[in-house]
Amino acid sequence: MKDNIVWHEHPVDKSIRSYMKKQRPCLLWFTGLSGSGKSTIAGAVESKLSERLHHTYLMDGDNVRHGLCGDLGFTEEDRNENIRRVGEVANLMVDAGLIVLTAFISPFKSNREVVRSMLKEGEFIEVHIDTPIEECEKRDPKGLYKKARAGEIKDFTGIDSPYEAPENAEITIENYNITVDVAANRVISYLEKYGYLKPIAADC
Ligand code: ADX
Repeated sequence: MKDNIVWHEHPVDKSIRSYMKKQRPCLLWFTGLSGSGKSTIAGAVESKLSERLHHTYLMDGDNVRHGLCGDLGFTEEDRNENIRRVGEVANLMVDAGLIVLTAFISPFKSNREVVRSMLKEGEFIEVHIDTPIEECEKRDPKGLYKKARAGEIKDFTGIDSPYEAPENAEITIENYNITVDVAANRVISYLEKYGYLKPIAADC
C-alpha cells in the first residue's frame, strides 16, 4: 500500500523548531496503574515547564479516549492500537519542537518499546509512576476499582488484565507518601540534568 508514497523533506525541520523554542524536544511517557497519579504529576510537570515559558503539550488517556481513540476499548488489540496512535501523534508533536507529556496506563512493555523506537535516541523518556495497586485501589478516584471488583468492568488493569512494569525506565517515582510537587520536581531535575531545557545551538 505504501509502495508509491515517498517521504517529502520540508525546509523547516525539527532542529529549526527546537532552536526557535529554546528547548530540546522530547516525549515524557508516563506509565502506571489507573489511580497511580500519572495525570496529576504530568499536569504538575507541565505547569512548572509553562512557568519557565517552555512549549509543551499533555495528552491524557481519559481525554484522548473521547476523541482520537474514542472508537477503542480495553482489549489487548484495542490497547495496542490506542498506544500506537498516541505514539504517532506524540512523535509528530516532538517533531514540532514540543516537550510532550503523555499519561496512559500503557500496560504492555512491547507497546511502550514500539513508541520508544519511533523516536530518536534520548527523545523518549519513560516515567514509571510506581504506586502499589493496594494504594491505587484505596484511592480509587473514579470508583473504577470498585466496579471492576464487582465484575461491572472487564479487562481492568491490575485486576483481570496485566500491567507489565518497566524494567529500565529513565525515571521511576514511587508515588506514595510524597507530594505531587516533590514528584514533579524529580522530572524537572531530570530534564535539567540532561540539557532538555537549554536553548539549542544556532548551527542547525
Ligand atoms: S491504556 O491501557 O490503553 O493505556 P488509557 O490510559 O488509554 O489505557 O485509559 C485508561 C483510563 O480509562 C483509566 O484511567 C480509567 O479511567 C479508564 N478505564 C476504563 N475502563 C478501563 C479498563 N478496563 N482498564 C483500565 N482503565 C480503564
